Amino acid sequence: MSSEEVPTHVEKNEINASFVRHTPSRHPSADSGNVSNRLTDLPRDLEPIRHHWEQRGRKYGLSPSASWVDETMLQREGLVLARYINDDDTVLDAGCANGYTTLQLARMRQIRITGIDYAPSMIEHANVNLSRAGHIKGAAFFKVNNFLKLDFADNTFDKVYTKRTLINLGSPIYQKAAILEAHRVLKPGGLFMVSEVTVQSSEKLNRLRQKLGLEAMSPLWHNCYLDEPEILRFIEPYFEVKRIKHFSSTYYVLTWAIYPFFVRNGQRNYRGFLHRVSALLPQIGDYGLQKLYVLKKRSR
Ligand SMILES: C[S@@+](CC[C@H](N)C(=O)[O-])C[C@H]1O[C@@H](n2cnc3c(N)ncnc32)[C@H](O)[C@@H]1O
Repeated sequence: MSSEEVPTHVEKNEINASFVRHTPSRHPSADSGNVSNRLTDLPRDLEPIRHHWEQRGRKYGLSPSASWVDETMLQREGLVLARYINDDDTVLDAGCANGYTTLQLARMRQIRITGIDYAPSMIEHANVNLSRAGHIKGAAFFKVNNFLKLDFADNTFDKVYTKRTLINLGSPIYQKAAILEAHRVLKPGGLFMVSEVTVQSSEKLNRLRQKLGLEAMSPLWHNCYLDEPEILRFIEPYFEVKRIKHFSSTYYVLTWAIYPFFVRNGQRNYRGFLHRVSALLPQIGDYGLQKLYVLKKRSR
């Protein structure tokens, strides 16, 4: 599919905006030394969410908390992703915030990795984090870009990943449009790695919490959790599901069910002993809010 088309599964009139037409760059390395900060247009109904992230990027600056306060889980996600990324891969981090995971992976693997985010403040700080990152094995680039209209040619990347960016796209329509963009820029046989929260995983954790007399947790105003069966049905013609990794199950049971059951209104320390140990333990069961879906682009 060309980058100029609206995905066929999504009715054109359902997308409440016009996208800016643009010529995709040939390759991530084509942007090296000349990182584009050009903003691409966004559907108007997503502007409040972008505003939220732009503000958050300014507030937290270089800190990992710009994307998420749970640094322990951020780090674990990066380690799990690294298992599917090899030296010499070209990689896209779709919705990279200020580059925490992008740079974590760039330190671990000899890759060419590009992080994109639609919040300029995030990219500004990602570039500062890059300048202070120390030894990077390959090369890392950051640019302002919209996941719904990626500024890259078809079949560019070996690996694309998204961590909690799809849930920030407001509706299943935009989530599906982004999935098709990831598909477009991936090489045939390339992997799309999706670490996201689903309606079903949230309900499952909440059922456990409620059994323990704890309140259900609700999504933040800017989050739209993925509907797992609907998304799996949607991706079927495009991707083969290689693996679903329950990499956060024990972690959530211990930190979001057992701990609050014993310590009501306890102070949460995401970098503290409980969180760090819970992330290191074998992850048993299917209670994690997040899972990693490893999807392989079908060769047509
Ligand atoms: C929850 S944060 C996760 C950041 C990062 N993936 C991580 O795991 O640390 C979501 C990020 O996605 C970005 N984002 C949301 N919608 C986007 C879009 N349409 N295009 C590009 N970035 C987007 C936000 O600006 C924010 O930085």
